[in-house]
Amino acid sequence: MRIGVLTSGGDCPGLNAVIRSVVHRGVVDHGDEIIGFEDGWRGFLEGHHRPLTLDSVSGILAQGGTILGSSRVQPSHLRDGVERARQYCSDLGLDAVIPIGGEGTLKAAKLMSDAGLPIVGVPKTIDNDIAATDVTFGFDTAVSVATEALDRLKTTAESHQRVMVVEVMGRHTGWIALNAGMAAGAHAIVVPERPFHIEKLTAVVRERFDRQKKFAIVVCAEGAKPEPGTMHWEEGTKDIYGHERFTGIATQLSRELEHRLGKEARPVILGHTQRGGTPTAYDRVLATRFGWHAVEAVHKGAFGHITALQGTKINLVPLAEAVAELKTVPQERYQEAETVL
Ligand code: F6P
Repeated sequence: MRIGVLTSGGDCPGLNAVIRSVVHRGVVDHGDEIIGFEDGWRGFLEGHHRPLTLDSVSGILAQGGTILGSSRVQPSHLRDGVERARQYCSDLGLDAVIPIGGEGTLKAAKLMSDAGLPIVGVPKTIDNDIAATDVTFGFDTAVSVATEALDRLKTTAESHQRVMVVEVMGRHTGWIALNAGMAAGAHAIVVPERPFHIEKLTAVVRERFDRQKKFAIVVCAEGAKPEPGTMHWEEGTKDIYGHERFTGIATQLSRELEHRLGKEARPVILGHTQRGGTPTAYDRVLATRFGWHAVEAVHKGAFGHITALQGTKINLVPLAEAVAELKTVPQERYQEAETVL
């Protein structure tokens, strides 16, 4: 079979492991021909592709980023994008396309699948917010990076008796904030699912200093917001694709906390560091399993699905179901963390 593969949207540790796995399973076990499209859907629509062989994926398992490149371009952004994609798929004689991407990419994949393209999606995002799968690869790496940063920040915070307000990724959901915050024993965790109350946050940090503790660590997801009207708040803007560009919750919160507490506070924005570098062993394994199962789905003709981790198994979930809703942090998880405001 002739199978196209592309990586689209924000990159994520483990993408190369999926690409490698697709090539290994496809070429070695099924005798497939694998075509890699460059820079996500952009390369697909503009005809930039190259053959992927065992040699071209040699040594990439532990590499961060994506050897194919990525972009946030989706066919649905272009008026005739879906039609062009369909035409291109048939001109190239592709039997299947495996897009590896997050929420936006899977929505685009659904549109293309509805238009008749043979698609099997692979979910990825460090945000872990795709409901169909228990976990997305990249998340474990991001949580490990954030946890290490929080551990390191404690010692410098203590030396200077400061409040560190640490911003992690998470546009719509607080999975990274919650897990890294719990792993590092943060004193307050602020997530997008629950607007925070500045008075309550201030009280939590003040109470800590009242107990003669010398520092406090507040972890916040970039998309978190205060309850409306409770503090001065600068809203973000939109980027060229309509995604929210945040103004920096850490900067706004640290300024406010410093003012209210009379204690030095510093913002730390971990940003894209969380997406860079080598994937953890967990992410390499999950990504490899997703690649393997995506090729199997292609050979079974199970188009219009994504691979998903459910319990310990990799199952196929219809694209329509996969994009229906985001996976937010459930109530019990907040309760376990105790420090969520
Ligand atoms: O979707 C993953 C994510 O890491 C979000 O948490 C973040 O808002 C976004 O990507 C930022 O991506 P970029 O700056 O690359 O567009």
